[in-house]
Amino acid sequence: MIYKSIKINKLKLENRVVVSPMCQYSAINGHPSNWHYKHLGSLVKSGASMIILESTAVNKEGRITKKDLCLYSEEHKKSFKKLILFLKLIKNIPIFIQLSHAGRKGSSEIPWVKSNTPLKKKDGWQTISSLGIKKDLKWPRPKHATEKDIKKIINDFAKSAKFAILAGFDGIEIHMAHGYLIHQFLSPVVNKRKDSYGGSFEKRSLLAIQITKNLKKICKNKTILGVRMTATDHLKKGININESLRFVKDLESLGVNYVCISSGGIKTKTNLKMKIKGFRSNLTKKIKLNTRKMVIGTTGKLGDINFLNKKLKNNFFDLAFVGRPFLKNPNWMFTKDKKIEDLKKVPKQYLRGHE
Ligand SMILES: Cc1cc2nc3c(=O)[nH]c(=O)nc-3n(C[C@H](O)[C@H](O)[C@H](O)COP(=O)(O)O)c2cc1C
Repeated sequence: MIYKSIKINKLKLENRVVVSPMCQYSAINGHPSNWHYKHLGSLVKSGASMIILESTAVNKEGRITKKDLCLYSEEHKKSFKKLILFLKLIKNIPIFIQLSHAGRKGSSEIPWVKSNTPLKKKDGWQTISSLGIKKDLKWPRPKHATEKDIKKIINDFAKSAKFAILAGFDGIEIHMAHGYLIHQFLSPVVNKRKDSYGGSFEKRSLLAIQITKNLKKICKNKTILGVRMTATDHLKKGININESLRFVKDLESLGVNYVCISSGGIKTKTNLKMKIKGFRSNLTKKIKLNTRKMVIGTTGKLGDINFLNKKLKNNFFDLAFVGRPFLKNPNWMFTKDKKIEDLKKVPKQYLRGHE
C-alpha cells in the first residue's frame, strides 16, 4: 500500500511517504545555506515521494529565529530557484515549500542554543499576534494585530506564494498549526478578539480563509495548495474535532488540494501524548471519513513500515508526513524491508550496498 501511487489534483506521487517540513535553523539571512543543499540533497533520494521544505517566513517579523528560511524578496526567490534546480537534477520529485508566520513564537533563540527562550530585547524584534497574550510567562508581549497589520500579513503570504511559484516549487503548504500566527487566530485559547477576526469559529477562521482564498487564486489549478492544521489543541477550551471537521470542509470548498492533520502546539504544555505509534491516526480517520475528495495526510510516529501499511490499507489517511526517521537515517525506507519491490527504489548508485 505504501507504494500505491496517488494523485494530488494532477500531481502524481509515486508512494505515500512525504518528507515532513523540518526547521533546520541554518539559513543565512533567510537564504538556503550549504547545509540545506546537503540535507535536502539526501532527502530527495530517500525514497519519499515528495519533500516539503521547512517552515519559511513570509516576512522578517514572521521568523522564529534569525536563522529561518525566508521568502519575501527577489533575492530569496533566486536562491530558492537555484536550490530547486540542484535538487531536481539529483532526483525529480515534487518539492513543496511551507509558508509561515510565527507570530508570538518569533524572536526566539535557536533551540539548540537555548530551547523555548526568547532573544534578549536588544537582539530581538517586536512580535505580533491575534492578541497581546504572551507565549509563556518569560516571553515578551506580542503586539495586538490591527486590521491594517492583518491586511499586510495576508498580502505578505500572497507575495511569498508568487515568489514560490516563480522559484519553481510544485506546491505550497500554508502553516496553520503548531502555535504559528494563523493558529494564534484559529485557537480560542489565544484569540479573544472582539472584532471580525475573533469570537465565533467563523470569525477566528477568517484570517485562515482569507489567506487561503488569496493563495488559491495565485496557485490556480496549476500549483498544489496544501494546509497543515491543528485538528485539536488538546486543551479543554481549545480547537476541537467538531470545529476541525467544519474547517476542513471549508478548506475543501476553497479548492485546497490536501491537508496534513497535526495537533497541539498552541501552548508549550498540552495534553498531547506523543509516544504512541501513529498518535494522530484516529483523529485523522475521523476527518478523512468526513471529507469527500481532498487528500488527507497526517504526521506523528509513522516510521514503522508495517504499521504504516496497515493504517493506509484501513483508510485512516492517504499520506504519511514523516519527520524524525529521515533525520536519524535518510535511507530508512530502504533498510526496513528488503523485499524486491522496495529494493527497486534504491538509487542505482547505492544498489550494491544492499546486496
Ligand atoms: C527538527 C524538527 C523540525 C520541525 N520543523 C517543522 C516545521 O518547520 N514545520 C512543521 O509543520 N513541522 C515541523 N516539525 C514537525 C514535523 O514536521 C513532524 O510533523 C513531527 O516531527 C512528527 O512527525 P515524526 O514523528 O515523523 O517526526 C519539525 C520536527 C522536527 C523534529
